[in-house]
Amino acid sequence: MEIIRTKVKDLLTSKPGSEVLAKGWVRTKRGNKEIAFIALNDGSTIHNIQIVVDKTKTDESILAKVTTGACIGVRGQLVESVGSGQAVEIQASEITIYGECDPMRYPLQKKDTSFEYLRSVAHMRMRTNTFGAVLRIRNQMAFAIHEYFHSKGFVYLHTPLITASDCEGAGQMFQVTTLDMENIPRNKKGGIDYSKDFFGKQTSLTVSGQLEGELGATALGEIYTFGPTFRAENSNTPRHLAEFWMIEPEMAFYDIKDNMDLAEDFIKHLVRYALDNCRDDIQFLNDRYDKGDDGEDGGLIKRLESVVNTDFVRLEYTEGIKILEQAVRDGVKFEYPIYWGVDLQSEHERYLVEKHFRKPVILTGYPKEIKAFYMKQNEDGKTVRAMDVLFPKIGEIIGGSEREADLKKLEARVDELGMSRTNLEWYIDTRRFGSCPHSGFGLGFERLLLFVTGMANIRDVIPFPRTPKNAEY
Ligand code: 4AD
Ligand code: MG
Repeated sequence: MEIIRTKVKDLLTSKPGSEVLAKGWVRTKRGNKEIAFIALNDGSTIHNIQIVVDKTKTDESILAKVTTGACIGVRGQLVESVGSGQAVEIQASEITIYGECDPMRYPLQKKDTSFEYLRSVAHMRMRTNTFGAVLRIRNQMAFAIHEYFHSKGFVYLHTPLITASDCEGAGQMFQVTTLDMENIPRNKKGGIDYSKDFFGKQTSLTVSGQLEGELGATALGEIYTFGPTFRAENSNTPRHLAEFWMIEPEMAFYDIKDNMDLAEDFIKHLVRYALDNCRDDIQFLNDRYDKGDDGEDGGLIKRLESVVNTDFVRLEYTEGIKILEQAVRDGVKFEYPIYWGVDLQSEHERYLVEKHFRKPVILTGYPKEIKAFYMKQNEDGKTVRAMDVLFPKIGEIIGGSEREADLKKLEARVDELGMSRTNLEWYIDTRRFGSCPHSGFGLGFERLLLFVTGMANIRDVIPFPRTPKNAEY
């Protein structure tokens, strides 16, 4: 009789007593002379289904091919399990080998499971419990983000990946060109003649969809983008990728306070969603890596719950600097100096969040010199209506601001920074024709995942990380 495959996730919650077919990859095989136990996983859940094989009734040559990593199909009776650890198991009647796996050459061996090693076999690491859990959570979070904005009536806007403007103005763009590198066309002054390039001008991969997002918000009201962004910053840290995903909502008629309210509600919703919908995977990560036995904060689940149940601190940059200066006077040692005007380092952000307030902090009113050109200038002439959301273990997870809606002030700032207006006229038009107060922010998707999974390195929350000197696969 033809029988349809059931996913392991569904088998584990099925009533015993029927004939089933499971397909997946062998995690382990153990047993004795008479019986073999196979732990089978198909990626649908962190849990394996146990397969019980009566060796006397099974072809030895088939069982020999059931090794860790092999792909098999198992047909049999779903029965109540006598062993502890699972409610049901499969009494195998027929095993099909789809793909053998040489145990001597399989890259995922028990002996080296360090994250560092697994990064070197990133093409296989999705088969491990840990990366399965992380990637299922990543998937759920992507869904939760769309669902959140959809339910609030935001429009999902697709902004371009190839662009001619540097939104953040930090000069960290990857150039996109079809010019012949061996024979670069030159203009009269000896510079590169970009008019010969594919787009007839110099282009790069985007560092942010915000500028185009603002065009959307000032037409559609509330939009969000969710896509890959690229930064050629040479920072080899556990929190930076050269290719990462960002969620950027942009809202007409929101001031900085509305912006903060949305950011706080949004991120709490996502963490709550993870706790409610990724329980098995989060429990696994909690128990395996982050139980809180270092006495710091009670571990992953406690940390997630505390964020959902607490009001974030809202603090002016100037006040934050005072706290950090006091900490230095009290003997706290920071690697980087602290003074008004300085761009905060992750160590400073984490001190405020983890040591001083012991909860997330939204820092506002930054000096304009350390922030981007588009931020709304305060009356003091020194600070801008920026907001960074700072999280335990991560530091900055969200960056955003109210935008400068005043044409004259925006143009003056562009000029002051020596930026080219030519490439920005389309953006400046939003202030020329029906300008409106508006705000937005960017959430780093992988930073969010660092927090939700408790993983320590951003390379371990994206399937194929792109970092300096590393673009394998
Ligand atoms: O603070 P950033 O640079 O802000 C912007 O790009 C604004 N245009 C966003 C906006 O207002 N629409 O980046 C936003 C967030 C950071 O808070 C961080 O979470 C993440 O993006 N991020 C990175 N994540 C991984 N690797 C990197 N190199 C990142 N750079 C920023
Ligand atoms: Mg930032």
